[in-house]
Order: sequence, then structure tokens, then C-alpha cells
Amino acid sequence: MKMNVIEHTDRREAPVGVFDSGIGGLTVAREIMRNLPSEKIVYFGDTARLPYGNKSKETIIRFSRQIVRFLMKQDVKAIVIACNTASAFALDTLKKEFDIPIIGVIDAGAEVAASVTKNHRIGVIGTVGTIGSGIHADYLHRLDPRIEVVGKACPLFVPLAEEGWLNDPVTEAVAHRYLDDLKKKDIDTLILGCTHYPLLRSLIGNVMGSHVRLVNPAYETALELRNLLTEQDLLSKTPGEEEFPYRFFVSDLAEEFKKFANSILPYDVEMTQKINLEDEGV
Ligand code: DGL
Repeated sequence: MKMNVIEHTDRREAPVGVFDSGIGGLTVAREIMRNLPSEKIVYFGDTARLPYGNKSKETIIRFSRQIVRFLMKQDVKAIVIACNTASAFALDTLKKEFDIPIIGVIDAGAEVAASVTKNHRIGVIGTVGTIGSGIHADYLHRLDPRIEVVGKACPLFVPLAEEGWLNDPVTEAVAHRYLDDLKKKDIDTLILGCTHYPLLRSLIGNVMGSHVRLVNPAYETALELRNLLTEQDLLSKTPGEEEFPYRFFVSDLAEEFKKFANSILPYDVEMTQKINLEDEGV
């Protein structure tokens, strides 16, 4: 299907591109909608190729590159990698290769965690890829060399969140299996380093206890986007004039995506289009 791309002569009115392996990045899109209500969004969820969390760095860079090209064809003015795994593996490469402002979700979360920890002991949970990359420790040590980082991959949280088992005894048992060891490490701050984990926030909080502060990078990423757009004079000035300010594209299962999106977004998702990246010439 040929797509209708609106070209924006005023770059400020162009949309922001947001992408993820699938639905998880909607937790980031949701924060952008709440905190930057004038911004239009083109969202891409790579539902045909998810999960990203257990794939290699090379593969994630290749997928991400293709998606950035697709979003640029939609005339976006900036790109948010709303996926921790893709941010961990591909952000540096994409920033070098493309002439468009690109941010990920790792640094914003790391900055908050570094600023709130009292005992300099921070936990990070995420996919196998994100935790294996050690990227949070790199960021956190740069911010404060005294910080000790304890990482734990929690891959089963992703399907459990997608299943909607947000407060289910099975999810609670899995959480104990993953997190009981972390609880013994005396951390006072825990970064939710995967897009799906904010959906399990209350359950993770109950397991960790109220003395552990949970950091959701999605909110901080929306604030980082606002700073970036302000600095580059790219902030939208004309709120809510387009009929569809939010457009959603997926590489598979558009109906399932739409159902999930409608369950978590403060907005009724009407337009979700399935596309083949190969057919888009990217
Ligand atoms: N969006 C991914 C992340 O934040 C989680 C889902 C996946 O593995 O694709 O790392």
C-alpha cells in the first residue's frame, strides 16, 4: 500500500518518530503524549521480528537502521528509540550514520537513578541483551564512579506483561525467582530497563519493598525529548490540528497491536497500518 506522507515545510510541525520491537515502546509514547501534548507521533512497532531482547547486537543494529530509514521517509524531525535493547545496541551507530536527532531510553533513566540513590547501589533489570551489554554500568560510572551496579535479566516479564498478567500469582512467583537475589544486594534504586516493566511496576515494587525506589525511564525520556526539541527549536507550536496526530505502523499483527495500544494509551488508536519494510525500499 502506498503511504500518504505529509511534508512539513515548518520542521517544528513534523512528527516525532518513535520505535520499538513491538508494543513495549507504547509506555514511552504514552509519556510523550502526556508531557508533550502538541507533538505528533509516528510510531513503528517491529511486531514481525520481536523480541529484540535475545537477539545479537549486529541484528538489532540492522533492524534499527531499517526502521530509522522508514521513519525518515515519514518526514519525522527527531527519533526516540523506545526500546532498551535497541538503545543499548544501536544508538551510538545510528547517531553516527543518520543526520537527525536520535535519543534512546538508557541515559535518562541512568541520570535519575544516579541522582536519587543514597547508598550508591543501583539495580537494573532488563532483557538478556540490555543486561549483557553492561550499558547502564557504563553510563552510571561516568556519572559517578562510586556507584555499584547490579544487573539482572528478567526475560519472562515481557510475555507476562503482554499476556496482561500484571497482578497475577504466576507473575508474582516469577518476580520472586528473579528478584529475591537482587533484594539481598542492598540496592536502594532499581531501573526498570525494559519497556514492558513499567506495566508490572506495582508488582515489582511489592516484591522489592518500599525502601527501593523504582525508576521508569519512559517519563525521563519524554523530558529529554522536550529538552532536545527546545534546544534545536523543533518544538511544535500548533497543538492538535491534525486529524490523526498519532499514526501507528507495525510489521505484523496490526489488530492485536491496536487492542493492546487501546488498553494502555490515554487515546483511542484508530489507525494502525501493517507494512513490509522490504516493500518500503528501506
Ligand atoms: N522493547 C524491548 C526492550 O525494552 C523488550 C521486548 C523485546 O525483547 O523485544 O528491551
